[in-house]
Amino acid sequence: MSVVLRVENVYKSFGGVKALEGVSMTVNEGMILGLIGPNGAGKTTLFNVITGYYKPDKGRVELFGRDVTGWPTHKIAQLGVARTFQIPKPFPDLTVFENVLVSIKFSSRKLSEQEAAEEAKRILEFLGLDSHAHMLASQLNVALEKRLELARALARQPRLLLLDEVLAGLNPSEVAYMLEKIKRAKQEFGLTIVMIEHVMHAVMNIADRIVVLHLGKKLAEGTPEEIARDPRVIEAYLGDPKLALAFVERLSSKKR
Ligand SMILES: Nc1ncnc2c1ncn2[C@@H]1O[C@H](COP(=O)(O)OP(=O)(O)OP(=O)(O)O)[C@@H](O)[C@H]1O
Ligand SMILES: [Mg+2]
Repeated sequence: MSVVLRVENVYKSFGGVKALEGVSMTVNEGMILGLIGPNGAGKTTLFNVITGYYKPDKGRVELFGRDVTGWPTHKIAQLGVARTFQIPKPFPDLTVFENVLVSIKFSSRKLSEQEAAEEAKRILEFLGLDSHAHMLASQLNVALEKRLELARALARQPRLLLLDEVLAGLNPSEVAYMLEKIKRAKQEFGLTIVMIEHVMHAVMNIADRIVVLHLGKKLAEGTPEEIARDPRVIEAYLGDPKLALAFVERLSSKKR
């Protein structure tokens, strides 16, 4: 199995804040890796380092077998890496359809206008957004906004998809809907996925492996079962009673 992403001993500080301190992880092709950890653990910073938004102070990032440390964001995107943002970043004054079309045009594919429009339609249908195609992005509710964020990332036709809290703020049926779409997208488009998530039962259900960050360091790594039982992980979450509760609930719920 080939390695899609390798992060080696990555450090990143902001002034006195050590956001990442010697983080390493490996993501194999075709897997869904769940990246969890309490608020401020460094999860989004790690995505920002992987995508070239920040250069790490130290350490190395490898994508598809190439050392990409310090590469600019557009070059990393061209390799086939797409992300969603924790706070969705659509073009608010464009329609849902236009937003997806723009992402398709930013991808390195050479498509005619008609082919690009057809592709946009296909992605909107896939995410149940076809009936909202002509709404302005600024008019969407949270659930539709999250779907559009995913649609825009898929429109880049990535090989590696980085999802930053795409389930945050969704009700249980919307969480289930998104999980189903993420699983199907993985299969249909042959994706490898890294997924930052606080909705614990969801990430435990969908991920093949979990990496736990805490205060900028990797606290644990393992299967969802191993992580849910790990006392260090439960302790890390105890600072956050809501998340600790989610863990306890996870212990008593069935997988898949
Ligand atoms: N651009 C920045 N400037 C200064 N500090 C930053 C910056 N980005 C992140 N940080 C700090 O780095 C630490 C890690 O932040 P990060 O956003 O990576 O956490 P996170 O794990 O994604 O948290 P959350 O679950 O709340 O999204 C935090 O202390 C944060 O305040
Ligand atoms: Mg974050």
